[in-house]
Amino acid sequence: MVEALGAEVGRVVYLSAAGAEETGGVWGGVERAVRRSARAWTFLRVTGLATNALAWSDKVHRGVVRAPFGAASRSLVHERDVAAMAVRALVDDGHAGRAYLVTGPEVVSQTDQVRVLGEEVGIPARWEEQPLDEALVELSLEVGVEFAHQIIEHWTVNVDIPEEVSEDVARVLGRPALSFREWARDHVADFTPDRAEP
Ligand SMILES: NC(=O)c1ccc[n+]([C@@H]2O[C@H](COP(=O)([O-])OP(=O)(O)OC[C@H]3O[C@@H](n4cnc5c(N)ncnc54)[C@H](OP(=O)(O)O)[C@@H]3O)[C@@H](O)[C@H]2O)c1
Repeated sequence: MVEALGAEVGRVVYLSAAGAEETGGVWGGVERAVRRSARAWTFLRVTGLATNALAWSDKVHRGVVRAPFGAASRSLVHERDVAAMAVRALVDDGHAGRAYLVTGPEVVSQTDQVRVLGEEVGIPARWEEQPLDEALVELSLEVGVEFAHQIIEHWTVNVDIPEEVSEDVARVLGRPALSFREWARDHVADFTPDRAEP
């Protein structure tokens, strides 16, 4: 399907993941298919979308997020930056054959993400470290056993080695990437009691 699309359109911009080339998986496979078929392609390799934090939308307003690896530090990117990068790659010349590492402007630990969300929502919120075995069961039910193990492995690494911070967003957009705090401010409604699930 990817190859059929690649043959039909002039430019392909693919929302991929950091490490796609090394770790392969779905993202690596799609990248290879795009390279084979598209006349012009650009890859946006994201470390992590800040929208992942929406998983805590029903917890932040209760003041506690119970999850594993609070010390894991991530360079989460605002979806507006991903969209803006995609527009530039589709509209401007000079992005064909480029793979951008798309990140936020800094790394923020999961513990601090919760604190920042609480500050922006106006309800103090804190991280509560969840035992790994309990987290693995919960995560496996949500995303399947194999992906749950991959996520846990990623977080384990990010405790000691924070995710990379790239200047690619700033270079392409001509302004700094949006911070996690800006993302939180834009999403206050998603974390307030009347909008979040009970
Ligand atoms: N999350 C990350 O940190 C991360 C990192 C690297 C790359 N990515 C990539 O970024 C993309 C979005 O990630 P995500 O975490 O936001 O995924 P997600 O939460 O699973 O959201 C996927 C979105 O795609 C929609 N969708 C799924 N199948 C569709 C279909 N056949 N036709 C139209 N829409 C469809 C879903 O709509 P419904 O809600 O209606 O089902 C949903 O809005 C994915 O391609 C992912 O591989 C994400």
